[in-house]
Amino acid sequence: MEAKRFYIRTFGCQMNEYDSRLLTDLLVSSGWTPVDKSEEASLVLFNTCSVRQKAETRVYGHLSGVAHLKRLNPEVRIAVVGCMAQRLGEELIRRFPLVDLVLGTEEIFSLPEIIESGDSGERVKLRLSGRDFGDLATKLAPLGAKALASFVAITRGCDNFCSYCIVPYLRGPLRCRPHPQILEEVEVLVTRGAKQITLIGQNVNSYFDGEIDFPDLLERVCSLPGLQRVRFTTSHPKDFGEKLLEKMADLPQLCEHLHLPLQSGSNQILGRMNRSYTVEEYVQKVEGARERIPGLGITTDLIVGFPGERETDFERTLEAVEKVGFDASFTFRYSPRAGTMAAGFDDDVPEEVKIERLNRLIALQRKISEMKNRELTETVQEVLVEGHSRRQQDRWRGKTRGGKTVLFSADRESLLGKLCRVRITSCSSKTLFGEFVS
Ligand code: SAH
Ligand code: SF4
Ligand code: F3S
Repeated sequence: MEAKRFYIRTFGCQMNEYDSRLLTDLLVSSGWTPVDKSEEASLVLFNTCSVRQKAETRVYGHLSGVAHLKRLNPEVRIAVVGCMAQRLGEELIRRFPLVDLVLGTEEIFSLPEIIESGDSGERVKLRLSGRDFGDLATKLAPLGAKALASFVAITRGCDNFCSYCIVPYLRGPLRCRPHPQILEEVEVLVTRGAKQITLIGQNVNSYFDGEIDFPDLLERVCSLPGLQRVRFTTSHPKDFGEKLLEKMADLPQLCEHLHLPLQSGSNQILGRMNRSYTVEEYVQKVEGARERIPGLGITTDLIVGFPGERETDFERTLEAVEKVGFDASFTFRYSPRAGTMAAGFDDDVPEEVKIERLNRLIALQRKISEMKNRELTETVQEVLVEGHSRRQQDRWRGKTRGGKTVLFSADRESLLGKLCRVRITSCSSKTLFGEFVS
């Protein structure tokens, strides 16, 4: 094989972004160089998502898009890794014979070894043993790009089996990483320049490593020197309790943002989703959280068109969205996933009704987001500067503690990575605009 250059493209959630960073580190420490264009690579990697059919369709598009590379140079290797690899295995190679290697969600980290050994034997590795992922931290070479904000996985897998969700089948049972490893990784990232750490897992608040639980872990992470901000995602409403709220109120580094997926505002649908809370319990928790933590930003995930969702169920979702007043929500059309419990239900909401409900939900959320943002005008917010505005290079871009994007101008050389105070002057439903204070 010629020059060891690799291209990696990541789809899906933060866990995949995190895995791609680990994989990048592993490849770099075995002599590989990352490149930005697939045309320049001798190894093309797709780290994939299967959560909805649309996510898979996108990957097929990208695979067709790199087919010519292999015709130009048969030495090029193409690997599909992660969730879609785990779900489809052999089938991926049958559909796309140009794929050389298919590695599931746990085999992904053996990629450098497999490539190095020139092993042309097994092309599909999907072992899902539920093994610990902890030893990876020690393999983590302190190379990588400098990143202001980094993810750190604290759990892997999920035991919740929400009836629509494929994740537990693709990522195995819940495993919690021993806390000393988490702390060590955070420290490494801080020495690389991280100002913000986001602790990630499918359901972070069920963390327990046999010694400490999630609120205690937060406390230990926040006590590490050099960290300015700590965030976490995703929380499950059923495990969101008083102790976590106390820590959120007490730990100054912990940002006032909670991502708490509601999924539906109808108790009938929540029951069929196997979410184990009612909308009343959800609202009560959120109201309690808002009382304790001033300025708390709350975001959520919502699914429309779940099997059996009647117009009245959907109206309950609209009511809940209005009542809670989410700062933002991620809204999805239900997509049946083979092998899940809900795949056995009749997918009886017609596609055009799903689309129509989604549009109504998005319109309502936009109105609420804009109203919430407007409440922040004339306030001064702490902003961690992450870069420039994508459209206007002379404006800085950062996030408030509540998780909102702010664009502002300042006649300064560089504010990158700085915590600034910014006065909010105007807003749209997605963005706050402001001026630099100090
Ligand atoms: N562990 C996280 C993320 C799960 S995937 C959590 O529990 O929140 C992110 C979101 O995708 C989910 O919250 C859900 O809203 C959505 N989702 C999952 N499966 C889906 C499906 N089959 N169809 C539509 N949306 C789905
Ligand atoms: Fe999927 Fe539910 Fe687990 Fe989230 S908590 S990953 S939605 S099964
Ligand atoms: Fe997708 Fe896998 Fe994440 S299915 S949402 S990449 S856990």
